Amino acid sequence: MLPSISIIGGTGAEGSGLALRWVYAGYPVTIGSRSLDKALGKAAELNLRVPDEKKQLVGKNNLGAAKACQIGVLTVPYSAHRETLLDLKESLQGKVLVDVTVPLVPLKVAHVHLPSGGAAGLEAQEILGPDVRVVSAFQNISAAHLRDPERDIDCDVLVCGNDATACEEVITLVEAAGMSGLHAGSLVNAIAIESLTPVLISLNKHYRIKDAGIRVTGISRSEK
Ligand SMILES: NC(=O)c1ccc[n+]([C@@H]2O[C@H](COP(=O)([O-])OP(=O)(O)OC[C@H]3O[C@@H](n4cnc5c(N)ncnc54)[C@H](OP(=O)(O)O)[C@@H]3O)[C@@H](O)[C@H]2O)c1
Repeated sequence: MLPSISIIGGTGAEGSGLALRWVYAGYPVTIGSRSLDKALGKAAELNLRVPDEKKQLVGKNNLGAAKACQIGVLTVPYSAHRETLLDLKESLQGKVLVDVTVPLVPLKVAHVHLPSGGAAGLEAQEILGPDVRVVSAFQNISAAHLRDPERDIDCDVLVCGNDATACEEVITLVEAAGMSGLHAGSLVNAIAIESLTPVLISLNKHYRIKDAGIRVTGISRSEK
């Protein structure tokens, strides 16, 4: 049976795009929000885009969503990262938490900002403690790519974390969502991976596009 996924902050563009893709792939998905009404509304809106046999999206408040899942996915702005994780810490114990957060500074989103803990992913691990397996992923995938769940995305997702089994589980989720996932080392590498996002935003601005992404060369895709 596929693991249940809850997206904390799943009403935003990044979280709802991932939710839609995982529901299409057959996963049971919960949209989490600070507001139950908003979560229910977003789940209903996304369910309209899902064929009947795949309608497995539900909405809950963030705490209910964190309690309900086997794998949590965090998609909130960096300004809400610490507070959200502190609220959900107990409910996430023993689980995998996929951190998608990029430590952007509003109005300077095209500039790299290193938070005091080095990376949002490292801060998540420090806040949640050793019994939550934090995996960092998807920071370099623009929400613009995620909208059409039937279209594969021509980008790599760099996945890093300190638990090899958890990273493997997340690579499976990346591929289920129509992307290519690459093992990118231990969680400290989130410093570099999160920092690539402002670089991609700079490319978007300069070239007037919305969806710059990355592809790693030199890896035989059939052997990864
Ligand atoms: N958008 C992209 O293209 C993209 C790409 C890669 C990575 N990311 C990263 O993914 C994360 C989510 O991106 P997004 O564009 O989806 O963000 P967003 O729309 O600004 O926020 C996502 C959700 O976070 C919740 N939220 C907002 N302020 C909050 C607060 N003060 N406390 C708790 N929850 C709050 C809101 O949900 P409720 O109001 O329902 O609680 C909101 O819908 C960010 O860290 C971003 O850097 C985004």
